Amino acid sequence: MTGDAHGTHGTHDVSDMSAEEYWNHRYSESDRIWSGNPNAALVHETAGLPVGRALDLGCGEGADAVWLARQGWHVTAVDISQVALDRGAAHAEAAGVADLVDWQRHDLSESFPSGVFDLVSAHFLHSRVELPREEILRRAAAAVAPGGALLVVGHSGVPHWQHDGHADMRLPTTEEVLKDLDLPDGEWEVLVGEERERVQTGHDGEQRTLTDSVLKVRRRPAD
Ligand SMILES: C[S@@+](CC[C@H](N)C(=O)[O-])C[C@H]1O[C@@H](n2cnc3c(N)ncnc32)[C@H](O)[C@@H]1O
Repeated sequence: MTGDAHGTHGTHDVSDMSAEEYWNHRYSESDRIWSGNPNAALVHETAGLPVGRALDLGCGEGADAVWLARQGWHVTAVDISQVALDRGAAHAEAAGVADLVDWQRHDLSESFPSGVFDLVSAHFLHSRVELPREEILRRAAAAVAPGGALLVVGHSGVPHWQHDGHADMRLPTTEEVLKDLDLPDGEWEVLVGEERERVQTGHDGEQRTLTDSVLKVRRRPAD
C-alpha cells in the first residue's frame, strides 16, 4: 500500500454502508489518505517490462497510475470512489500525464473496464465492506493480453500488532491467491510468487514490519 498518511482505519460500524458510500466516506475524511508514492512492489516488478497498456484495479488516489504513466504506459485506472478518482486526475494533471490516464469509476463487483492489457495490476485490493476479490482477480487475469502480466500485491495475513483494521477481511497468502485465480494449465507462468516483508512508518513515527503477498504471472504469448 502506498502508505496510510493519516492512520485512521475507521473502526466505526460500517455494516450499513454500501462499498461506494464506505470508500467515498473514507476518502472524504481527509485531503489525502495514501502517501502519493507508488507501491514499491509495482516499481520493482515492472522494471524491464516493455511499456504498453496497463490497468490498475482499485487505484485509490492514483499514485501507481501516475507513476506508470510517467514511465510511458497508457493507463486505465479504476476505483469505486469518485472522490479518489478526482484526486488521481488532479495528480496526473500536475504531473503532466493527464492524457495518458483514463480514470474510470467501476464497482468491480458489478462492472469491469473493457479491453485487454499488457499489465493488469491490483495493489491492496482489500476492503472492510463487501468485495468479491477472488472473482475480480479472475476477471483481471482474463483481461491480460498474450505475453502480458498480472501483478497482484496484498496483505498476507493480519500483522501481529494490528488487532482491529483488518480483522474482518480475508488476507490470503500468495499461494492462496494463485489457487483462487485457478489459471488454466499451460497458459501461464509464475514469474514471482513470494511473501515479502516491508517496513512502514506509521503516523506515530513508529516503524512496523508488514508481510505482503506478491504474485506476478505472465500469460504465455500466442504461438
Ligand atoms: C486499500 S485501498 C488501495 C489503494 C491503492 N491501490 C494503493 O495501493 O494504495 C483499496 C482501494 O480499492 C477500492 N475499492 C474497494 N472496493 C472496490 C470495488 N468494489 N470496486 C472498485 N474499487 C474498489 C477502494 O476505493 C480503494 O481505493
